Amino acid sequence: MRILSGIQPSGKLHLGNYLGAIKQHIELQDKGEAFYFIADFHALTTVKDPALLREHIKDVALDYLALGLDPSKATFYRQSDIPQVPELAWLLTTVTPMGLLERCHSYKDKLAKGISPDHGLFAYPVLMAADILIVDANVVPVGKDQKQHVEVTRDIAMKFNNLYGETFVVPEERILPEAGVVPGIDGQKMSKSYGNDIGIFLEGKALRERVMAIVTDSAPVEAPKDPDANNVFNLLKLFASKEETAEWRERFLKGGLKYSEAKKRLIAILDETFHGARERRKDLAKRPDVIQDILKTGAERARGVAAKTLARARQACGID
Ligand code: ADP
Ligand code: TRP
Repeated sequence: MRILSGIQPSGKLHLGNYLGAIKQHIELQDKGEAFYFIADFHALTTVKDPALLREHIKDVALDYLALGLDPSKATFYRQSDIPQVPELAWLLTTVTPMGLLERCHSYKDKLAKGISPDHGLFAYPVLMAADILIVDANVVPVGKDQKQHVEVTRDIAMKFNNLYGETFVVPEERILPEAGVVPGIDGQKMSKSYGNDIGIFLEGKALRERVMAIVTDSAPVEAPKDPDANNVFNLLKLFASKEETAEWRERFLKGGLKYSEAKKRLIAILDETFHGARERRKDLAKRPDVIQDILKTGAERARGVAAKTLARARQACGID
């Protein structure tokens, strides 16, 4: 099984990204031949500040490596280090119906928000198809927001295969089971764009301030409280053991609980969960050459695979 997924370097990763995507990507590296890459060309459709983009790329590489991506198991690289990807994207774009792209929800959502689209935003799914098809991936683990993009990839691959003969492996998406939707500090879905996220690598005072800012109601201490309606409980249960979650549930229901107690426990549990990763991240951050080497080796390996697929596609359509 060949697995591929891309991560946009669009800001600091948060607990929702961790439970909804990263943790599962890392588990999958033991289940097949995994290719994970930093989708920096895709990020250019939204991040237009070069210094910021450079920083995000570095951050996402550090985050994934610190959280357990093992470069000896998974091939880890930057999309922009694989020149075969944009070249393949062009070949694909010549068989992609406009209507297929016009129907994409993520594109339509951005239009609806009043964003004036550039061609990159419109062609985003074609570049994504090139990412996937270039390594002959069978399985693409993504969040459900990306499901349609993988379906578009399948359509494009089949269209090309029908027109020019069997060239591409037609991939399947694997929708990552949502860890429920992880709620943010205001109870809405945690998202960078809502400003309600808790960063994976926050610690000390910064983490304390963020957790203390989780919105709770003003019920008196002695009142019984509904745990399922409480933002602190809903985050705590994602990280606590079953037994501990049951104990907190009891304490909420019984009354006499100060929300600050549950918040303190949430901080402690995040410290326990991410302590190792934070230390690894600090250590790696001091050795940028190690990161460069990992990405360089990954890119070499990915280019080897990509060159073969591209040659096949060029030959199929007569550019050989
Ligand atoms: P954001 O909404 O912060 O911009 P992204 O859209 O970049 O996050 O998310 C990348 C991946 O992380 C998604 O495909 C999804 O799998 C996962 N993810 C993001 N936010 C959450 C959340 N609140 N709960 C569960 N998974 C999430
Ligand atoms: N569009 C994906 C996201 O925003 C990132 C991505 C780019 C990707 N290319 C990909 C994911 C190829 C899976 C496969 O999350």
